[in-house]
Amino acid sequence: MSSGVQATDSNADGNAATVTASVVGASGFAGGELCRLLAGHPHFDLQQATSRQYAGKSVGSRHPPLRTSELRFTEPIDLESVDVLFAATPHGVSMEHIEAYADAAGLVVDLSADFRLESAQAYDEWYDGHVAPEYLDAAEYALPEVNRENLPGAELIAVGGCNATATILGLYPLFEGDVLSGDEQIVVDVKVGSSEGGAGGGEASSHAERSGVVRPYAPTGHRHEAEIERWLGTSVAFTCHAVDMVRGASATSHVFPSEAVSAGDLWSAYRSCYDDEPFVRLAAGGTGVYRYPEPKAVAGTNYAEVGFELDPKNGRVVVFAAIDNMVKGSAGQAVHAANVALGFAETAGLEFSGLHPVGAP
Ligand SMILES: NC(=O)c1ccc[n+]([C@@H]2O[C@H](COP(=O)([O-])OP(=O)(O)OC[C@H]3O[C@@H](n4cnc5c(N)ncnc54)[C@H](OP(=O)(O)O)[C@@H]3O)[C@@H](O)[C@H]2O)c1
Repeated sequence: MSSGVQATDSNADGNAATVTASVVGASGFAGGELCRLLAGHPHFDLQQATSRQYAGKSVGSRHPPLRTSELRFTEPIDLESVDVLFAATPHGVSMEHIEAYADAAGLVVDLSADFRLESAQAYDEWYDGHVAPEYLDAAEYALPEVNRENLPGAELIAVGGCNATATILGLYPLFEGDVLSGDEQIVVDVKVGSSEGGAGGGEASSHAERSGVVRPYAPTGHRHEAEIERWLGTSVAFTCHAVDMVRGASATSHVFPSEAVSAGDLWSAYRSCYDDEPFVRLAAGGTGVYRYPEPKAVAGTNYAEVGFELDPKNGRVVVFAAIDNMVKGSAGQAVHAANVALGFAETAGLEFSGLHPVGAP
């Protein structure tokens, strides 16, 4: 792999350093969000967007926010040499093409699950094996709130999964604050929007079948359990429901601490983790309509909302986390990670804070 893109002092100061970028898989949902974010980013110059199906067509023909862009899709076999290559392709594609990606760019940021786990054995257990396990050691997982210190100078970044991101951000302070030891049972239920399935869809994603659903899927054994376990250090019992929204993932976790905990303990655990985080907003009670995290409140943004409530009668803490799966859960998190890796201001290109009121996300 060519050497990583170097961060410089001028980048860290937010000055006008610019790096070139490409997006492989740019016609898809996550790739489209990447193109939108990079087009508005002060330090990225988006030079290439690939699609096999739409090669030759304008990027704006697939993604309305880019209607005025002059960029056209190109075939992924003709990769340009750039500083940063973002890959937003289905599982299995990046591991197959990683050598070409690494030849084309000093930093590869992969949005798929191909480099999120630590070993070939883990891919045998959770996926269908791995064809480039020699790259796993070099890959840095990107959930900047949890491991930003590993990102500067990275050459390969594996962006965390959307459901895993919501789940980890909700539960992480309970481990950091010693509210949980890792021995307790944790039950997680995530409600997800239809865009999680990608633009390709299929019968289950057609409007007639998807509209109005509250449909359990992967009720046990969801693959994101693997990365959640890796970063929380304990297994969780995880279930997803497909619900009637386009964007959003809302994770509700039920935990039963072995020692009594107060609301003050919880506030101090969450504040000490997240008070300085640029993309986490705490929402735990208070007044008004939006007292707890809701996907609507973060749609289109790179923010995660995190909240909790104590249930003393049952010895339970219920934890909520809401994200936009295509921004904080993929494209935004990828740009955030690249900002950290390259020494740009963490919030560069990601400042949008959301809309209110707003329709269904
Ligand atoms: N959607 C989400 O909310 C979300 C959240 C977190 C992570 N992710 C991950 O991000 C990745 C993309 O997801 P998505 O939802 O954006 O999927 P998508 O809408 O189906 O887009 C996939 C893109 O990959 C391209 N592609 C497919 N096979 C390819 C190949 N062999 N070589 C080169 N390009 C190929 C497709 O375009 P062409 O066929 O025209 O080339 C398309 O642009 C997935 O790994 C997914 O797990 C998605």
